[in-house]
Amino acid sequence: MKNLNSESVNNKERYKMSDLSTIFDSFNANALKLEASYKQLQDRIVEIDREMAQTNECLNKKVQELNKLTRYLNSVLEGMYCGVVAIDMDGRIETFNKSSEKILQVKASDVLGKSIQVALAGTNGFNKLLLESLSTRENVFNQKRVIELEDGSSRYLESSVTILQDTSGTLTGLVEIFQDLSEIRELKGRLYSVNDLISVGTMAASIAHEIRNPLNGIAGFACLLQKELKGQNLKLVDYIILGTKNINKIVTDLLLLARPITLNLRSCKISEIIDRSLDLVSEESRKKGDKNIHIKKDYLFQNNNIVCDPERLQQAFLNIILNAIQSMHDGGELTVFVQEVIEDGFCGVRIGFSDSGEGMSEDTMENVFEPFFTTKTDGTGLGLVIVRKIIELHGGEVSIESEKKEGSTILLTLPEIQNEIPKAFSCVDTKNS
Ligand SMILES: Nc1ncnc2c1ncn2[C@@H]1O[C@H](COP(=O)(O)OP(=O)(O)O)[C@@H](O)[C@H]1O
Ligand SMILES: [Mg+2]
Repeated sequence: MKNLNSESVNNKERYKMSDLSTIFDSFNANALKLEASYKQLQDRIVEIDREMAQTNECLNKKVQELNKLTRYLNSVLEGMYCGVVAIDMDGRIETFNKSSEKILQVKASDVLGKSIQVALAGTNGFNKLLLESLSTRENVFNQKRVIELEDGSSRYLESSVTILQDTSGTLTGLVEIFQDLSEIRELKGRLYSVNDLISVGTMAASIAHEIRNPLNGIAGFACLLQKELKGQNLKLVDYIILGTKNINKIVTDLLLLARPITLNLRSCKISEIIDRSLDLVSEESRKKGDKNIHIKKDYLFQNNNIVCDPERLQQAFLNIILNAIQSMHDGGELTVFVQEVIEDGFCGVRIGFSDSGEGMSEDTMENVFEPFFTTKTDGTGLGLVIVRKIIELHGGEVSIESEKKEGSTILLTLPEIQNEIPKAFSCVDTKNS
């Protein structure tokens, strides 16, 4: 019994040993596997480290490139002659370059990040274009307008507004690019003056100036004589007075051409300026008991406000109307029309003076804008030169359609310049009231 027991104990011991050996073997095998996995992991970590270093290097390069590009774009933006103002879709100013600061006389640091409505409220008329585009979501091209700065001075700007989108087509903001054309406009005025001075002659201008004083003296004495004299002698004095008036007109026209003209711009209704010119002419005609001339007004464009110098325009209109009346020897019809012009980004008005007079020959048509060209015995040949100078100073154009014996049409095209007028440019009417 005892032997049997010891044998079973030995068997148990043997089984235990073999179990242990199996466990050890499996442990060893797993340890080896673990070691291999650890090795693989270590290799992978080395590889990832290398990849990360490469990615970092790439990223650094990209950041450097991006910084370089940003610096480059910023320097382009800052060096640009044009003003650049960008806003986000909430109307907050994101970009305001150096030229914008210079043109609008506002510091970028005072406006960046602020709402354009609040930040540029002092610059009358500037924010209107961006705000309009923000609400209409439409681009604007080459719009000309006059704005008023905080110090009361004005700027003549040409602007384009572009809506910005990201790659997915989502609207991200708007950018206005604008240039200050005030100086160019002024230079253009001076250039005309220089050219006119050459063609009319500096001498003529200085002589004209010298003529004025004695001429006024002659006119004054003639008026005194008028009261003293009677009959044939009185008629002679009348001729003297008429003569002085004519010379005075030539002198005035000459001086107008010789001197630089500074336009006194305001927002005015073109039709009102035409009406005033027609009134002046009909008053003159009535005084003289002139021929029967019927005037027809075709003001098709009701809201014909433009920024202009009304006194100068009236002068131009008067010259054209007088020519028309003088061309209709036996009376006739003068049609004056005002139309709106919107073509190729140009917004403005077209004014036409169409007469049923004698018309012009080809030779006259070629020379009408030459100083002193006239087909009249009492003409000065300066009327249309002055018209062209005034209209071109306003950024407009003059053209003539005419046929001998059929009548003539003088066409003037004037830019509107802007839609909304700063308060400082309020209409002539405020002056009259
Ligand atoms: N409406 C018109 N009809 C016919 N001829 C015209 C008309 N307007 C201008 N002209 C011609 O152009 C010339 C130059 O006109 P302008 O410069 O006003 O000078 P002026 O009236 O002193 O002659 C006129 O002499 C005339 O021959
Ligand atoms: Mg004339």
